[in-house]
Amino acid sequence: MEKRIPISEVPAHAGKTVVVSGWVQARRDHGKLIFIDVRDRSGLLQVVFTLDNKDMQKRADQLRPEWVVSVTGMVNQRPKGMENSCIATGMVELLARDLIILAKAHTPPFAIDADGKDVNEELRLKYRYLDLRRQRMARNIIMRHETVLFMRNWLSKQGFIEIETPILTKSTPEGARDYVVPSRLYQGNFYALPQSPQQYKQLLMVAGFERYFQIARCFRDEDPRGDRQPEFTQLDVEMSFVQREDVMAVIEPLCIDMVKTLYPEKTIQEIPFPRMSYQEAMGKYHSDKPDLRKNKNDPDVLAFVWIVDFPFFKKVEKGNASHPEALAEGWTFTHNPFSAPKPEHMDWLMHKQNIGDILTTQYDLALNGCELGGGSIRNHTPEALQKVFEIMGYEQERIVRNFGHMLEAFSYGAPPHGGIALGLDRLLMLLHHEQNIREVMAFPKTGDARDPMMNSPSEIMQEQWKELGIELKRKNKKT
Ligand code: AMO
Repeated sequence: MEKRIPISEVPAHAGKTVVVSGWVQARRDHGKLIFIDVRDRSGLLQVVFTLDNKDMQKRADQLRPEWVVSVTGMVNQRPKGMENSCIATGMVELLARDLIILAKAHTPPFAIDADGKDVNEELRLKYRYLDLRRQRMARNIIMRHETVLFMRNWLSKQGFIEIETPILTKSTPEGARDYVVPSRLYQGNFYALPQSPQQYKQLLMVAGFERYFQIARCFRDEDPRGDRQPEFTQLDVEMSFVQREDVMAVIEPLCIDMVKTLYPEKTIQEIPFPRMSYQEAMGKYHSDKPDLRKNKNDPDVLAFVWIVDFPFFKKVEKGNASHPEALAEGWTFTHNPFSAPKPEHMDWLMHKQNIGDILTTQYDLALNGCELGGGSIRNHTPEALQKVFEIMGYEQERIVRNFGHMLEAFSYGAPPHGGIALGLDRLLMLLHHEQNIREVMAFPKTGDARDPMMNSPSEIMQEQWKELGIELKRKNKKT
C-alpha cells in the first residue's frame, strides 16, 4: 500500500498515485462525477470519483461532511480554466482509484468551513474539537506552537534555560484570588495554583541559574474578560546581575525577531520601542497601556511601548474586594510586592517615608493598547523586602508565615535580579487580530469560567469529600 502524504504535498506528485487521508469538507454531485473536498491539517484537495468503478462510486455517494476517509488516486493537472486559485492545491485534483471510509460523522452543530465568528460561544466551546477544525482556529493554534518554539530556541541560544516550577504551590499575593486545592494528607490545608511562577523564579536566581525562562501556566480566580482567562500562559523570564536595561535588551529583540520571522507581513511602528513614564501616559492618553498606532485601522501595525516609573504603592479604601492581598485599609502595591524601588527611592522605602511618591523599577510592555507584559528589578535583600510588607501593614507573624521562605532564602546570598512576564495569549490575540484570547487557546473557559465540553467545574463524589475531610455547608444555586 502507498504511504499517506499530506495534502499540501500533492501538487508535487502530478502524474503519480498517492494516498491522502482526512475529513470530507464538501461534496458536489455532478451526475456522472462526484467531487469531494478532502481536508487535512495541511490543506484542502479536490477528489473526483468517476463511474468507472461502480462499487467505489456507490460508497462515494454516501459521503457526508466530516466523514473521515482515505483516498488513493492519481494526481492530475486540472483542465485549463478549471483551476481554483483559492486553494493551494487548486491546479491539481485527485482522480480516485480507491476509497476507504475510516469513520462516519454526525452532522456538525455548526459550519466548519466558515470563520465561526457568528456561532454562539457556548456551542463553539461545547464542541471545541469541531471548532478547532476550522482553518482560522487551526492556524491560530499552529502559529501558537511556532511562536513558543521560536521563543524557546531564541532564549536558549541566549543562554537561558527552561525550568518547570510547581503547579501545586502556596498562595502568592499577586492581586487576584487563588485557586486552591485541598490536601488529602494534611486535612484543612490547601495548595494554591500559581498566579505566576514569581517566587520560584526568584528562588532559582538564589540557586544560581542566572538566566531562567518558562512557558508557564498561571491561574487567577478573577472574572474572565476578552483579554483575561482564569488559566493562561506567560513567557516568564528572570535574570541575575541585571538592571532594567538588561531585561529590556533581551525582550525587545526577542519580540522584533519573532515578528520578523513568523509574521513578516506585520510592521513594527517604532524600533527601538518608545518609552514613556506612567505619568506621561496617564496625562496624554489617560491609560497606562496607550495605543500609539498612528492608524488604528491597519491590522498589520504593531505599536509596542514601554511604560516605566510607576508608583510603588497605592491606597486601598476600606472593603475593596478587588484587593485580596491588602489588609482592610491602607497601602498596597500597584504591581508586584517583590519589586525594588528605583535606586534613588530606596532610602524612602527603608525609612517608610514619602510612601505615595516612591517609584518602582516596574516596566510594562504595552502593544496596541493592550498590556502585553510586565516585570521589574526585585528587592534582593531581606531587609528591603521586609519593608514592603511592613508598609502594607502586615504583622511580623503574617510576614513570616507568608514570606518567611523568601526572606530566609535572601539571607543566604541572593544576586541582584529582575525579570518580566509576557502574556502569550494576549500576544497571539494581537498578532492574529483577534478580539478575544479564547481564539488563540485550544481549550479556554467561557466568560463565566466554565468548560461546557468537559462540563467543569463539576461535583465530586461523596467519597472524595470524605477523603479530603471537607463538608459542604451550602450549595451554590448555579451548580
Ligand atoms: P503580571 O501579573 O503583570 O506579572 O502578568 C504578566 C502578563 O500576563 C498576562 N496576564 C493575563 N493573560 C490572560 N489572562 C489573565 N487573567 C492574565 N493576567 C495576566 C498579561 C500580563 O501583562 N510575575 C509577574 C511578572 C514579573 O514581574 O516578572 C506577573 O505575573 O499579559
